[in-house]
Amino acid sequence: MNREEIKLKLKECISEKRYIHSLNVMDTAIELALRYGQDEEKAAIAGLLHDCAKDIGIDEIFTICEKHKLNVNEVEMLQPKLLHGPVGAVVAMEEFNVHDEDILNAIRYHTLGRENMTILEKIVFIADYIEPGRDFIGIEEVREIAFEDLDKTMIISIDNIISHIIAKGVLIHPIAIDTRNDIIKKRMRQ
Ligand SMILES: [Fe+2]
Ligand SMILES: [Fe+2]
Repeated sequence: MNREEIKLKLKECISEKRYIHSLNVMDTAIELALRYGQDEEKAAIAGLLHDCAKDIGIDEIFTICEKHKLNVNEVEMLQPKLLHGPVGAVVAMEEFNVHDEDILNAIRYHTLGRENMTILEKIVFIADYIEPGRDFIGIEEVREIAFEDLDKTMIISIDNIISHIIAKGVLIHPIAIDTRNDIIKKRMRQ
């Protein structure tokens, strides 16, 4: 499927608000890809499809996880929305005919990250956080840093997300901590 075909189908799968968010993430991911010498088309498709599974109901999410033998831990069991990354990669493959592992991984890991993230994965993670529709205190500064230092932006984003999760009183997924620590450890060793 080309980008336009993906857009038409995606529009049917998610809410209008989320569709606009997806277009914004695509645009921001393209800009970051150009800045960091990454494949523009891969960034565009991953940005467009990153939330393709976010409006799938909980029962269906678990059905897909079971069918594709995706690991579901206790935190995900209690907060199944956290699974929309890995489930999104399945949907991108099955419904949107995406078979590029770089794109699928950027979709798979866009919510929590992982250790040893690729540049494309970081780009989609950050584009999701700073796209033009987002608004939080300090966002302009984060947007600027995103074009200077991807890892620094990852740390700021994860720290903000974790603070937000703590304020909400919900569970912190251990992988978010692993992602953060992995980047910080590598910076300490530099
Ligand atoms: Fe998401
Ligand atoms: Fe998103």
